[in-house]
Amino acid sequence: MMNETASEASLVEMRGICKSFPGVQASDDINLRLERGEVLALLGENGAGKSTLMNILCGLYRQDSGDVFVRGIKADIRSPRDAADLGIGMVHQNFMLVDTMTVAENVVLGMPSLAFIPDMAAIRQSILELGERYNMTVDPDAYIWQLSVGEQQRVEILKQLYRKAEILVLDEPTAVLTPQESKELNAVVKRMQAEGKSAVFITHKMDEVIAFSDRVMVLRKGKVVAEKVTADTDPKDLARMMVGREILFRVEKAPFKPGAVVLELKDVCADDERGLPALRDLSLQLRTGEILGIAGVAGNGQRELSEVVTGLRPVKSGGISINCVDSTNKTPLQIIKSGVSHIPQDRIAVGAVGDMSVANNLAMKDYRSAPISKGIMLLPKRILEFARKMIGQFNITTPSPETRIKFLSGGNIQKTILAREIESCGSLLIAVYPSRGLDIGATESVRKELVAQRDTGKGVLLVSEDIDELLSVADTIAVLYDGRAVGVMPTEGADPEEIGLLMAGVQPSGKESNS
Ligand SMILES: Nc1ncnc2c1ncn2[C@@H]1O[C@H](COP(=O)(O)OP(=O)(O)O)[C@@H](O)[C@H]1O
Ligand SMILES: [Mg+2]
Repeated sequence: MMNETASEASLVEMRGICKSFPGVQASDDINLRLERGEVLALLGENGAGKSTLMNILCGLYRQDSGDVFVRGIKADIRSPRDAADLGIGMVHQNFMLVDTMTVAENVVLGMPSLAFIPDMAAIRQSILELGERYNMTVDPDAYIWQLSVGEQQRVEILKQLYRKAEILVLDEPTAVLTPQESKELNAVVKRMQAEGKSAVFITHKMDEVIAFSDRVMVLRKGKVVAEKVTADTDPKDLARMMVGREILFRVEKAPFKPGAVVLELKDVCADDERGLPALRDLSLQLRTGEILGIAGVAGNGQRELSEVVTGLRPVKSGGISINCVDSTNKTPLQIIKSGVSHIPQDRIAVGAVGDMSVANNLAMKDYRSAPISKGIMLLPKRILEFARKMIGQFNITTPSPETRIKFLSGGNIQKTILAREIESCGSLLIAVYPSRGLDIGATESVRKELVAQRDTGKGVLLVSEDIDELLSVADTIAVLYDGRAVGVMPTEGADPEEIGLLMAGVQPSGKESNS
């Protein structure tokens, strides 16, 4: 508008933004405003179009139509450098740091104003000062490969602060952080805000919207479905807007009718990666038609438990039987053949073949063992039909069943692997953090699916950190602490507080659980 002065205009305004990819309209006529000193949450399920919209603002994607105004002036953002010149910086879901370079080198890498021989001492000093000011210190001389994921994220943020970004876009930043690191990030964002900077915070978690943002915009299938002042909403309201219907936080289940023992561990001992004891005389029993929930703070033997059962880690002493057949120290393939499915903790790394189609990834049950004949896998009608059913049932957002899986968002890759493992399960399903990283719609369908498997008479071993998930899904809960089962109880009538105490190593009687 001609008479709109720069001071009245919003800091950022996106008008009528449209962007499609083959088969998907990722942005559908989106209007977005961001004011100075404001944190705007962009909330939506996996595939809703959050990253796409912000990639447009940051010059990584070009919109098909629509305009972007920055400080009231129409901006033609054609590259991340154009965005940086306007004070816009983004911290991506997958970091873009160079592993073999130091923190300081990464911070200045690619800066147009960098001198031919940069003054590294001054750069180091600035990084230390910024770190101090925002309470997120990182050693400027450390190499990226030496840093934890949380520290790498700090480097990405410092890099933007060093470049004097006024508008910081954070794309699902807490997905890689521990709860403590998330709190620290929140403090950094608040600090930036106090200095008059602005941020767009992408997430699919309702409680983070409440903790981080002033205003929230909800995206669904490429469209803005709601825009609210955060203080006027609550998590339930946000959840409903995000998925477009009421969420069932309770899962419907048939009565608990346990059958024969399908999995039994007797006094199992095993070591962790470093050779230290991870499981100590662990004994557990799981029956058909039962979901046995393993509660515990991560790192108390959960990973090792799932690995000894699936043949991925040696048992030092004790024994494991599956359907009354000794399966101690059998190979993973032998165990798969005995009807065990496994949704592993690090599923994206080990569970999918990026260059294969979604349909083939869904169909290949033997992906762990069979060398897949490259490229010439045909897609018979049956595979396609099966894939369409799974895509619908698990709400996988993909342009088509024939799309190569590497083009899907992380959450959708995860749903694909879950769908395959759940569907191909014989008599025992091992599910390790199956809803981690999923949005609520997908979480709900995964939980329902676990219950459906149980109702068809399978045994399900569910490892979860989420007490609510265990209470709503499991029939029996065992708390794992320091490699031992410190409490096994029926879910019916279980007290969440007692489970929490057991998880912390405290016996409800008040005694420390030690030795
Ligand atoms: N580079 C791309 N090529 C093809 N499709 C894409 C690309 N980027 C995103 N998409 C598709 O656009 C839709 C929105 O994706 P995205 O913006 O990543 O969602 P979100 O960040 O909300 O999870 C998805 O269906 C996704 O598969
Ligand atoms: Mg995204």
